[in-house]
Amino acid sequence: MRVLLIGSGGREHALAVALAADPAVTGLYCAPGNPGIGAVAQTMSVAITDPEAVAGLATELAADLVVIGPEAPLVAGVADAVRAKGIACFGPSAAAAQIEGSKAFAKEVMAAAGVPTARAYTCSQPEEVAAALDEFGPPYVVKKDGLAAGKGVVVTSDREAALAHASASGRVVVEEFLAGPEFSLFVITDGEAAVPLLPAQDFKRVGDGDTGPNTGGMGAYAPLPWAPENLVDEVMTRIVRPTLGELKNRGTPFVGLLYAGLVLTADGPKVIEFNCRFGDPETQAVLALLETPLAGLLHAAAVGQLSEKPPLAWRPGAAVTVVVAAEGYPGTPRTGDVITGASGVPGILHAGTALREDGVLVSAGGRVLACTATGATLAEARDAAYALVDRVMLDGAHYRRDIALAAVRGEIQVPGRD
Ligand code: AMP
Ligand code: GLY
Repeated sequence: MRVLLIGSGGREHALAVALAADPAVTGLYCAPGNPGIGAVAQTMSVAITDPEAVAGLATELAADLVVIGPEAPLVAGVADAVRAKGIACFGPSAAAAQIEGSKAFAKEVMAAAGVPTARAYTCSQPEEVAAALDEFGPPYVVKKDGLAAGKGVVVTSDREAALAHASASGRVVVEEFLAGPEFSLFVITDGEAAVPLLPAQDFKRVGDGDTGPNTGGMGAYAPLPWAPENLVDEVMTRIVRPTLGELKNRGTPFVGLLYAGLVLTADGPKVIEFNCRFGDPETQAVLALLETPLAGLLHAAAVGQLSEKPPLAWRPGAAVTVVVAAEGYPGTPRTGDVITGASGVPGILHAGTALREDGVLVSAGGRVLACTATGATLAEARDAAYALVDRVMLDGAHYRRDIALAAVRGEIQVPGRD
């Protein structure tokens, strides 16, 4: 099987490593990729949000499967263009990708499907925003409607800050604050059959102890030692299957990876957001534990044969990933800093990296590396991930020191169960 992977982040490096390890893969290409991905796949350049350009490249490469990493190409209709060439594509149509592309659309689908989520109002006018804030009370949650790379959301008890974010964002969704531990569940689906991966937890805020602004994600671990036994089943039954059913009934079945961002509240799991693709950095941790060959799995989903696959096989133990970010992230990251200690080390996944003209590895984005390790226990995986972080030298770099720490210490409070 010849596979073309689209994207260039830490998530794509993890996908590339897993795809390359699948014995069914005879050729692996990645556009645009990064220097880390270049070690396991042939990288090439393409305008990734140009549907015809990506479909053209897939045809030229005689790809049997295209896997699309980021949301922007999906929302732009790249999967539609690839499928129109008769090539299997893992990734939803532009219509189904609206589940991530528009928070308002996602809320509408959830309401129609009876899926538990935060109560919310879509607002365009300052008066509507103010009324919604007052109805829900603090902490206030204000989300820009549209793609914002995880950074369009403000959660604050400062009413002025909430109003300011709304007025800077155009159309927004104001919603009720959900209290409880947050987690992510990734589901591989062909539009009908749906297979959950291991649940994971992401760390959205830039600073230790969940302080500072939101980021794309500063670290993750899987699975969740604190999860009630039936958690994944409950999410599949109450949230994922109704959502997939609703999208199918609308004539826009979702094929690819449905990412449910959830909070385990006192009333059970509720949706914070849906994404239309693998999460970053949770994918790095989750795929480190997946034993089932990935290309065969994604191909089965792309061609509507997921129900024929045997249950997934997982390595025992746990995985942790710690993101090493550039100075200034999540504001304006500084780029061009020399990185040492990161080349060719298994588990040091490249996100925002590039090769300078003289061949030296430099930073090229906000999240630079994702240091990913497994262990027999979560504590061991955590130690191993931080040992990888310690090998990296990058001027001005910062990372969180508390990834997976509360879970290791058994400090995560599950509402109604303490
Ligand atoms: P989103 O981009 O929707 O995932 O939001 C980013 C982050 O803001 C989430 O991962 C949560 O940590 C937080 N957040 C968003 N919506 C809510 C909510 N309704 N209640 C509590 N926290 C939220
Ligand atoms: N880890 C959050 C995201 O991928 O959106």
